[in-house]
Amino acid sequence: MTSQTCSIVCEPGTCDTFQFMAKILKMKVLHPGGLHATKLLAEKCKISSDMIILDAGCGSGLSDIFIANKYGCRIVGIDIETETLLKAQAEAVSNGLGDRVVFRVGNANNLPFQDQIFDGAIFQAALIFTNKTEALQSVYQKVRSGGFLGVIELAWKKPPLEKIVTKVRETLCAAAVNTETHSDWIQLFRKNGFEVIHSELLDHKFNFRGMFENEGLISSLRIALKYINDESVKKKMAQITSLFKETGEYLGYGIYVARKK
Ligand SMILES: C[S@@+](CC[C@H](N)C(=O)[O-])C[C@H]1O[C@@H](n2cnc3c(N)ncnc32)[C@H](O)[C@@H]1O
Repeated sequence: MTSQTCSIVCEPGTCDTFQFMAKILKMKVLHPGGLHATKLLAEKCKISSDMIILDAGCGSGLSDIFIANKYGCRIVGIDIETETLLKAQAEAVSNGLGDRVVFRVGNANNLPFQDQIFDGAIFQAALIFTNKTEALQSVYQKVRSGGFLGVIELAWKKPPLEKIVTKVRETLCAAAVNTETHSDWIQLFRKNGFEVIHSELLDHKFNFRGMFENEGLISSLRIALKYINDESVKKKMAQITSLFKETGEYLGYGIYVARKK
């Protein structure tokens, strides 16, 4: 089940993990490594205040607010989910960033912008939901020459056994297995016209401290209460935690920075 097909009945038992995090727990940062990884990515991309950046598959837009606040740049977030973007825009306005962070409905596979308009583009846990080659070609057109591509995505540390792929598909999300090995991600960026200048492969670490840093105090307390009071939520979280433990030899996430040649 992909996140796009799970919008009518969203129950912890049947929901994929990204939907569980977004719709049941109402988490706002859905990529591996959270805002800590976003900060590493932004620094490697050398984001500066004079830049205009595209965030493809931006979700709640919290990363965009974080980046615009920290680096002073302008960001355009696009996503296929209109309702999420309405909330994202309200959040940007309430953070005093309505003039620098804007959201627009759009498909990463066919971006609705002029060519070469962005200084850089990021994907955070979003490329795996797309046709990756189409999305990378689309982004390539919209980024200026010498501009950057920054990516945070799930990555296989080594080619996975079929039983690992099945487990990840069933427990985490069908889109999760649309990922690549670390070296195949690098090849894919190269094939689509980007020169990879930084790549690192990291382990998943799920803990309450990370959640607190991403989601803030009030949301973290709300999530903790759901966890305490709802057995199905507790069960799903236990499944996710043990999946990452059991597949840790295979499944991590990568941070990639590349330049348009
Ligand atoms: C796992 S969430 C990640 C959201 C956000 N980037 C983050 O890090 O929290 C994936 C997002 O990609 C969006 N998405 C999926 N397919 C897309 C596409 N073809 N074009 C644009 N956005 C897409 C989904 O709606 C969802 O918001």
